[in-house]
Amino acid sequence: MERLLKSLEPYAKRVNEALDELMAQEKDSLFFNPLMKFMRGGKRVRPIILLLSHEACGGKGNPEPAAVAIELIHTASLIHDDLIDGDVERRGKNAFHVDNGKEMAILAADFILALVLRVASMYENKQVGEVLSWASKRMAEGELLEVRLMREGEPISLDDYLKVLELKTATLFEASSRLGAIIAGRVDLADNMASYGRYLGLAYQIKDDLLDWGGERELSSLVREGDLGFLSELADNFIEKAFRGLEPLEDSEAKEKLRKIAEFAVKRSF
Ligand code: FPP
Ligand code: MG
Repeated sequence: MERLLKSLEPYAKRVNEALDELMAQEKDSLFFNPLMKFMRGGKRVRPIILLLSHEACGGKGNPEPAAVAIELIHTASLIHDDLIDGDVERRGKNAFHVDNGKEMAILAADFILALVLRVASMYENKQVGEVLSWASKRMAEGELLEVRLMREGEPISLDDYLKVLELKTATLFEASSRLGAIIAGRVDLADNMASYGRYLGLAYQIKDDLLDWGGERELSSLVREGDLGFLSELADNFIEKAFRGLEPLEDSEAKEKLRKIAEFAVKRSF
């Protein structure tokens, strides 16, 4: 595990440098300092998956801006999620809205989505923008669906639970791995890479929910007891499917790292 994280450090560094470069143009913005502070200390798992997928698909093209866009969407979603959930802590620090107020928390995500548009416009290939749009829309749908189900408070089916996970969490992993293939010009591998990300995301969120077990504000607390027993097994099945997504790739160090990330996701969460 330590070794895996160590081997991913150069990728995290690439993400951070590209993020600094993009944000350097926003230095005069009121959002600059609060956002830079909040984004410090993130593990950059999703953009790293984009970079690795890109490398595993041959490594042509320029993946860094898209990787930054993925981290930015993730950031916006966390800022809004903490506001919606009424959570006051994130990554062991104050939630964004605690330090900056709810107005800034709402507007910071608007600002971020504008930055994501800027990144999308940098790519000649309009598929990049399409995937970023697709991901942002689905995450919003997933969060709203979760809010509705929680508000109703009725027991939910495994299908409803998985639908929320697929939309709010798996989507961004799927977008990351798909973009890696698209930017490398390997559209033929895009669906396989997307499948890797999607199933990794699902397995990761199930494991995360199992760790947080018993929280009464968790959607998983509404899953019928009889269905709960399946969840761990389901996560293992999803990881098998994630591995299958990698099969058409030629062997490479990047592919091996993607495999290791998936193995790690079922053991514990990021
Ligand atoms: C964390 O869930 C939340 C998400 C994975 C997605 C949140 C999505 C939105 C708020 C939609 C907005 C989308 C954009 C593009 C700005 P959790 O509450 O189960 O996990 P946690 O324990 O990390 O809070
Ligand atoms: Mg939350």
